[in-house]
Amino acid sequence: MEDTIVSNSEFFQRQDDLISKVLPNSLVIIPNNLTSIRSNDTKYPYRANSYMMYLSNWLEPNSVLSIGNFNDLRETTLYVKPRDTEKEIWEGRIIGPEGALSNWPVDSSKSISNFEKSIKSQLSKYSNLYLIIGIDPEIDIIVQKYWDREILDPRLYLDEMRSIKSDSEIELMKKASSISSDAHVKAMAISRPGIGEWEIQSSIESHFTMCRSTKSYNSIVGGGDNSTILHYNSNSDIIDGTEMVLVDAGCEVNGYASDITRTWPVSGKFSQPQRDIYELVLKAELSAIEACQAGSPWVNMHKAASEVLARGLIDLGILNCSLEEALGKNLDGEYRKFFMHGTGHMLGLDVHDVGGGRQGGKPGPELKPGMVVTVEPGLYFAAWRDDISVPKKYSGIGVRIEDDVLITEDGPVVLTEMCPKTIDEIESIVGSAL
Ligand code: GLY
Ligand code: MN
Ligand code: MN
Repeated sequence: MEDTIVSNSEFFQRQDDLISKVLPNSLVIIPNNLTSIRSNDTKYPYRANSYMMYLSNWLEPNSVLSIGNFNDLRETTLYVKPRDTEKEIWEGRIIGPEGALSNWPVDSSKSISNFEKSIKSQLSKYSNLYLIIGIDPEIDIIVQKYWDREILDPRLYLDEMRSIKSDSEIELMKKASSISSDAHVKAMAISRPGIGEWEIQSSIESHFTMCRSTKSYNSIVGGGDNSTILHYNSNSDIIDGTEMVLVDAGCEVNGYASDITRTWPVSGKFSQPQRDIYELVLKAELSAIEACQAGSPWVNMHKAASEVLARGLIDLGILNCSLEEALGKNLDGEYRKFFMHGTGHMLGLDVHDVGGGRQGGKPGPELKPGMVVTVEPGLYFAAWRDDISVPKKYSGIGVRIEDDVLITEDGPVVLTEMCPKTIDEIESIVGSAL
């Protein structure tokens, strides 16, 4: 079993919590993610489904978890790949049903080859069915062969459960935050004029690997104008000595993500225009973090960042309009030309985690103790955009500063606080390993 500090009793507790929320006599089915071909017969690295990880920590593909509450008793079954010596010689050891039953938090385990037969008889005794449709179409078809009533979505309950992190989940997120922070510091330290974006990427991801973690999303390393492209990740250009680099990279530990962005001048010295924009974004970020209070509406942090940015853009002469026009009635004013994304999202087993905050237009949830969110305002002045005009000195600058924040009764706790972000700290670290 992969090392994790989450105990089997905590996984059983999560299963019990889930079945206490669904209707009586329900069966909940969670298929695991499919594998995916990268080229001919080689595959992308496999990542288990986050709901599967949350409920059982089962990481092998070709598997399905079912949890029932028949007559108020929990019945958890894990359907897994059977042992197969021939396959294991080529592809690695398979845990198999016996191994799963002895070490994983399940009440029984069966070969996936028995799934159809077993689920057919299971479904005949249950009154309600919950299934996450769309993860594995073959499982969807099998289940629907034996169930012609309504299929309910267990994410209704699971997303809310996942949005409040337990102590052990917070420990894992602290570990991920610490590894990612160190990776950013190392990348700052090796930065120099003329460095390749890929060199920074490689330094960061090699640190993740050395710490036995994996990246939780594709690293973004954009120098100069590339820093203004929000999801840039070709990371293939050389960074000029006059430019800053925006690095958005984070690792995951036992599936739990961190998500950090830092921006620094590769020369180690901010020019005045770079300093103007950096200080403004940092002020917005600190103000948004302060707004991360238990009981606050989700929008408060976005409002806090937006107000600082809109006012600052006017003060710097980038916007020539009133504050009302800059901010807009619904935070949709002129400032959105330069800050076009949200201020944060939930963080957990998914980097853009469940539980709200990124639900296209819908208001996010009220902040509650135990939630972990990112705070990540930015300003982007793309030189190639012909729909904006900014003073030349700011053209080609993109700055984002992103931290991971735990909501507590006593105020926000920045899990990534060990990652430096003041101008003085950054200037003293950049190039220090050369
Ligand atoms: N790294 C993705 C994001 O910041 O949302
Ligand atoms: Mn983020
Ligand atoms: Mn990010």
